[in-house]
Amino acid sequence: MTGGVCIMEEAQQKAVPPSVLASQALQQLRQPSCILVNLDAVRHNVRVLKGLAGSNTGIMGVVKGSAYGSGLLPVVEVLLEEGVQELSVATVGEGIHLRRQNVQVPITVLGNLLQFEVEDVLKHNLIPTISWASPLTAEPTDSLKYPDGSRLRVAINIDTGMSRYGVQPQDLPALVTTLDNLNVTIASMYTHFQAAINEPEKNKKQLDMFLEATEPYKLRPLTRHVAATTGCVQGIGTNLDFIRPGGAITGLSSGSDEESAGLFAKCGFRPALSVVARPTFFKQLPPGRGIGYDATYQTTTDEWIANLTTGWSDGFSRRLSNTGAVKRVKTGELCPIVGRVSMDSITIRLPEAPAEDDVFQVISDDFDENTSAVGLARILEAAVYEMPGNWSTRLSRVYIKNGSIAKVYHSLDYTC
Ligand SMILES: Cc1ncc(COP(=O)(O)O)c(C=O)c1O
Repeated sequence: MTGGVCIMEEAQQKAVPPSVLASQALQQLRQPSCILVNLDAVRHNVRVLKGLAGSNTGIMGVVKGSAYGSGLLPVVEVLLEEGVQELSVATVGEGIHLRRQNVQVPITVLGNLLQFEVEDVLKHNLIPTISWASPLTAEPTDSLKYPDGSRLRVAINIDTGMSRYGVQPQDLPALVTTLDNLNVTIASMYTHFQAAINEPEKNKKQLDMFLEATEPYKLRPLTRHVAATTGCVQGIGTNLDFIRPGGAITGLSSGSDEESAGLFAKCGFRPALSVVARPTFFKQLPPGRGIGYDATYQTTTDEWIANLTTGWSDGFSRRLSNTGAVKRVKTGELCPIVGRVSMDSITIRLPEAPAEDDVFQVISDDFDENTSAVGLARILEAAVYEMPGNWSTRLSRVYIKNGSIAKVYHSLDYTC
């Protein structure tokens, strides 16, 4: 164990409980709600991933979509501190953004490449994914070089069943020949699994197809990788050159169904993001009052109703009107959302008047079936990754590191 790790663990032992941190964050911001991202959970998740990977297997951290909504640069900083060797993103623009922040590790762009993106790919030393050679064949061969004069490096996506993008296995030899003729270096070959965590047999078939297709290139100096979050949890393809997880880094399960989410949680991952809020107003209403637009909820007795300042404009789904709940941090109890989720606020029902220091989690950093990202995804029939990924910049963001508030991005003042 390194000295750095000891210091961090010591800091965590003395760490202020998350409920207090949430309170402190709101106090420090002087705002009624915010997004809280626990970078200690990210660090923990990377260590869990290291434990799931083979001993000679590196990590290519997938940080597209602003690290799945948790914030690109703070998450990348932790990944690099933890020795993650490579990164991948979805778009050339995301790759350029990382380069402009002086991130120097290899960056693979997972999305399809268009011819007009080649210039930026070269200029910013990115590794584009290739499913066919056509974006490159229009370029003069001697121009496919990075600024240091080295040859363009590409990743080949092989379609072993996802049927989204990727070269068909039978077309791989021709693609390799074309790339060789273009003097392009093949940095890696990869595939992506289609099936859910609780369907390992299907993904195993894809792995077998991938290994067969790439066998002829085994002696080439290229890396092979297949296991995203699903593969990591399943232990399928985790002993190749890299694992390639995204969601797991911030503690998000790739599947929302109960079995998949259960298997994911069992690995020990911790969700990093929560959305916290303090009531801005509360009152006791008599029976028979209709709450919010269209009075979709009627009080049946004397009821304590409080407002939280977050609504669908921030990213909280209107479909949670009268269906969702928030978590009272102090007690862990659930308080139902009553009436419509409106643009800027929600109304919740409380068992009594809230205390001065009461904080509520609108998205909780756990696996709760009502309030966590995975629980909300199940309720909304959405992807788990959508839950933290949908938040706008109107809420400030507070980053926790080594058990205390490390960084604050003020509302509307950051890109995510
Ligand atoms: C090609 C590829 N690899 C890896 C990932 C990361 O997947 P996950 O976030 O499920 O780990 C994705 C995500 O969509 C992907 O498209």
